Amino acid sequence: MADAVTMDKIVSLCKRRGFVFPSSEIYGGLGSSYDYGHYGVLLKDNIKQRWMSSMVQERDDIVALDSSIILHPEVWKASGHVGGFSDPLVDCKFCKKRYRADHLEDAQCGQRPSKRPGETSDCDLTEARQFNLMFETSVGAMEETGVPVYLRPETAQGIFINFKNVAGIARRKPPFGIAQVGKSFRNEITPGNFIFRTLEFEQMEMEFFVPPAEADEWYRYWVDERYAWHRRYGIRESHLRIRPHDDDELSHYSSGTSDLEYLFPIGWSELEGIANRGDFDLSAHTAASGTKLEWVEQDGSRYTPHVIEPALGVNRSMLAFLVDAYDEEIVAERERTVLRLHPQLAPVKAAVLPLIGKSDDMSGRARKLYEELRQVISVEYDDGGQIGRRYRRHDEIGTPYALTIDDQTLEDDTITIRERDSLAQERISIARTREHVLDRLAEPWSSPKVDAA
Ligand code: GAP
Repeated sequence: MADAVTMDKIVSLCKRRGFVFPSSEIYGGLGSSYDYGHYGVLLKDNIKQRWMSSMVQERDDIVALDSSIILHPEVWKASGHVGGFSDPLVDCKFCKKRYRADHLEDAQCGQRPSKRPGETSDCDLTEARQFNLMFETSVGAMEETGVPVYLRPETAQGIFINFKNVAGIARRKPPFGIAQVGKSFRNEITPGNFIFRTLEFEQMEMEFFVPPAEADEWYRYWVDERYAWHRRYGIRESHLRIRPHDDDELSHYSSGTSDLEYLFPIGWSELEGIANRGDFDLSAHTAASGTKLEWVEQDGSRYTPHVIEPALGVNRSMLAFLVDAYDEEIVAERERTVLRLHPQLAPVKAAVLPLIGKSDDMSGRARKLYEELRQVISVEYDDGGQIGRRYRRHDEIGTPYALTIDDQTLEDDTITIRERDSLAQERISIARTREHVLDRLAEPWSSPKVDAA
């Protein structure tokens, strides 16, 4: 089913409201790079927090790690990235553009965008060449010897090489996991599609180490768990699906992978991957480093755990949440744009709005409420312009609750709480507002958005 939300609408809202800006814009921009403004940072932080909470805080079998971005270069040889982490590329000698050889069907000719590369008589495509996606740099001490180091293309390897450190002190035996959130870098040449695929991005990866005989069961468990996580934070069922990889799509390390796909404006595309990596990584690093990355039972028997890996991009997850939340409707004969984000993900949880900003009585009480709420949640005080305009600004950044202080507040110490999705308004006592908002934020939430026909 076609979705009415276009990427252009998302890009425009993100720029207008300060979620995402094109990177280096004053220098003409840099393809596939974006900067995150205030609300983008808050939204991304909330996604990371919810992920960490579901992995670490709500369970007792996963611990956290923060490993380096630059690792010993041998890590990437052992992992297979130096030899095999590449895309097949073709160059057009005529228009000087570079294309993924396996994505030519979806690409636009550099001279005639209505055509595909190779379709016009001027197109002059080279043979496909493998192009490694890792960014190379060098570390001072190693420069003379010319040994390259890489910016990590995934956070996962930092987890595998720390297996022994963590297993030794984590007071856990397999099955147990190590979770990590951090930046990764890939020299992606496929431009466009906003923050879906970028040169640098954040990943949330968890490596779950299990006894080999249990690997398949845990793989299926994590596919279900991760599907449920996206649903829990509001992604609509109609826009999320599980797609197991065919055998010929599997990565070199994987004996089974499923993508959780989201129906982005560009069509169904990978949101998160869940892979059964077997013992590939621990065995490869054991062989290359000489350090045994294995589990030793109390009776002295030993084995190399198998690994189940759910891997999700923060930025791609943010894009899915934005697309899923974006809605337009007509209210009182005016168009309203609203981000129906899960309240726990919303950058700002509540807006405190004195009806008449110039009224000292109203603004005094509003300020007091604002100061109280900001101790516990992300909240904004907004006294500029007409109340309708202020509501609409907060609708567009997805603020779930607007708290208005008006004439009646001065009489009976109640305020109006306006709910972003239903537009329902009710009066509650100012003294109970903090408790009321916290209670509502803790409630389960599902998207009221109606699928486009
Ligand atoms: N450790 C396994 C791994 O990195 P992946 O499928 O290449 O697997 C996992 O990446 C997730 O990271 C993807 O599902 C996607 O959400 C995100 N991701 C990968 N490349 C990305 C890019 N260039 N830009 C934004 N997100 C990316």
